[in-house]
Amino acid sequence: MKRRVKNNVYWIGYIDWELKHFHGDDYSIEHGSSQNAYLIEEEKTVLIDTVWLPHRFEFVENLEKEIDLNSIDCIIANHGECDHSGALNTLMEKIPGTPIYCTANAVKSLEGQYGKKGWNFHVVKTGDTLDIGNGKQLIFVEMRMLHWPDSMATYITKDNILFSNDAFGQHYAVEELFNDKADQCVMNHEAMKYFANILNPYAMLLTRKLKEITDLNLPIDIIAPSHGAIWRKDPMQIVEKYALWADAYQEDQVTIVYDTMWNGTEKIAHAIAREITKQSPDTVVKVFNLSKTDKNDLMTEVMKSKAIAVGSPTVGNDILSSVSGWLAFLKQLKFKNKKAGAFGTWGWSGESVPHLQTYLKDAGFDVIDEGVKVYWTPKEEDFEMVPAFVESLLK
Ligand code: FEO
Repeated sequence: MKRRVKNNVYWIGYIDWELKHFHGDDYSIEHGSSQNAYLIEEEKTVLIDTVWLPHRFEFVENLEKEIDLNSIDCIIANHGECDHSGALNTLMEKIPGTPIYCTANAVKSLEGQYGKKGWNFHVVKTGDTLDIGNGKQLIFVEMRMLHWPDSMATYITKDNILFSNDAFGQHYAVEELFNDKADQCVMNHEAMKYFANILNPYAMLLTRKLKEITDLNLPIDIIAPSHGAIWRKDPMQIVEKYALWADAYQEDQVTIVYDTMWNGTEKIAHAIAREITKQSPDTVVKVFNLSKTDKNDLMTEVMKSKAIAVGSPTVGNDILSSVSGWLAFLKQLKFKNKKAGAFGTWGWSGESVPHLQTYLKDAGFDVIDEGVKVYWTPKEEDFEMVPAFVESLLK
């Protein structure tokens, strides 16, 4: 069922309450999600994006109940990833000649996924426009690397809606569609988790893109992303948050992340937490056992942190695979302007702390020289290393 967003602009997507993982198993979903597609019914009928592949038949059936598919004058493919293009193949079998407006890179990604079908592509660039009748225009804005090279946003004049695709989205199912109807706490958390885990590597580009959008001087009444709540109440709040988050964001927080074999490294993690509170009572301290914590939630905590401490015992002349796997993910996300320290127990060879320091440097962290390296089970005198470690981490 189509649902009005504003005037002749409708939502026609899929609210995905059942979704638990995204990007394979790489992104955890805790509160459902949605794939937001939009239908504009002016003199021209325009479809913006579709839904994920598993929902393609339901999507096309729903669309057919709302409109004659042959009345669709054009399709805007803001992004080729299959959570938005998944119904395109099924749809194009029914209306094969329909023009598809997208970036040059989206032609590559769509043909790469669905094959060369001879679709009627119209390649657009930033600033290109399309008249849709009743005095309204669509304006296209390339959003290269936000988060794929093929991404773009589409703006409709007079209604002043920015269809931002993945940018400004959240993996959050909001049946009522709009941000003012959503649970604010969950929505803001999911928006930050989305940024930390998907957009943070492109933060520098995002800062430039936000300026470019602002410089276009387009009034924005609604930001309609392709996942989660549509920002109709104070829509610029999410743009302002993105500007903050993209600028090496941090709060007065230190996050301690560790895994442990026989609880020795865990004891050091807890001692570090106590010492941080002793030295800096206002600093928020959070401690997570990696193997018992969602890795994406942990990245949200890292994004909020000014420093992290990472711990692992030495095993196999290296560190636990849970920690090395997580550190590889940490490196991908390219956090900036954060300190880090390493800790861990050892019994035979003792490489975990220097290895952790190397991994953390490689991930772009400013790593302190001090490490808390403890021989076998931590004893009272071993904790004497902790105050200097924390002092350096907080400095
Ligand atoms: Fe990049 Fe929501 O797909």
